[in-house]
Amino acid sequence: MSEPAEQSERSKKDYVTGEEISGGRLFTLLDRAEEMKRGRPSVGSDALAGRSVALIFEKPSTRTRISLETGVFEMGGHPLVLTGEALQLSRGESIEDTARVMSRFVAAIAIRSGSHEDVVALAEHASVPVINALTPEFHPCQALADLMTLKERFGGLDGLKVAYVGDGNNVARSLAIAGSMVGVEVAVAAPDGYQLEDGAPAVLTDDPYKAVHGADAIYGDVWVSMGDERTAEARISDFEPYRIDSDLLAAAKKDAIVMHCLPAHPGEEITAEVLYGPQSAVWDQAENRLHAQKALIEYLVG
Ligand code: CP
Ligand code: NVA
Repeated sequence: MSEPAEQSERSKKDYVTGEEISGGRLFTLLDRAEEMKRGRPSVGSDALAGRSVALIFEKPSTRTRISLETGVFEMGGHPLVLTGEALQLSRGESIEDTARVMSRFVAAIAIRSGSHEDVVALAEHASVPVINALTPEFHPCQALADLMTLKERFGGLDGLKVAYVGDGNNVARSLAIAGSMVGVEVAVAAPDGYQLEDGAPAVLTDDPYKAVHGADAIYGDVWVSMGDERTAEARISDFEPYRIDSDLLAAAKKDAIVMHCLPAHPGEEITAEVLYGPQSAVWDQAENRLHAQKALIEYLVG
């Protein structure tokens, strides 16, 4: 399948919601990520030789920041890590002007922001590719590594079933979108008031046991995302029946894997026994952020 028309017809490519790359292009990208992983460090890419990539982080990050920074370096580029406060954005310069100016210097911009609208505006006004490094609504880079991990573990993607249990948040939404592009069924089990919107490309339920029935993977994320801190107490109580524990894992397929985007709070959304147990794929999943994003950047700047 070819990429969506609006993406191929524009002069530059972005990765903001994850809907920009679909079907065959996504498989090519995952193959390339696997190739770079297998051959690392000698099989790489010099797509960024002599070029810089701006990495704007308005929120904390361990995996996304380190994988992007390392990945840009491994592709011959210079990663410019910028906090929100380091930029004139913090003093009122517009996101549009920031986009215009940055485009004169760098080959691409990745941004983690508390405002999805800002990331959309940045992409609209930048003449270089913009990568969403997490907004409250989407986390497409995570979903790319999730698909890579599933493909690596099961040898293919078509027909797999992933049960996401917990908050219907950015990670759940991006997983559902990415899964729908490659034939992976995503079921999201979330309590009332925390579910993804109707029309999201996932099977929506409030019953975790129903979601994990026949699942090849169970997927968790924190109950309190960045920006949700004010409602933390209510959330922790509402999500109590949605903990991923050994009973829930036993209700999935026998060889099911456990996934989590991390950071995890063992004892809260997932038990330590499951997180650190033999079915856990979370450390490979974290590593795959690097490989998947390198393939993504190579495609976007190419
Ligand atoms: N999974 C993920 O995006 O982790 P960080 O918040 O540490 O980047
Ligand atoms: N849903 C979490 C993901 C962290 C990687 C958050 O937005 O904080």
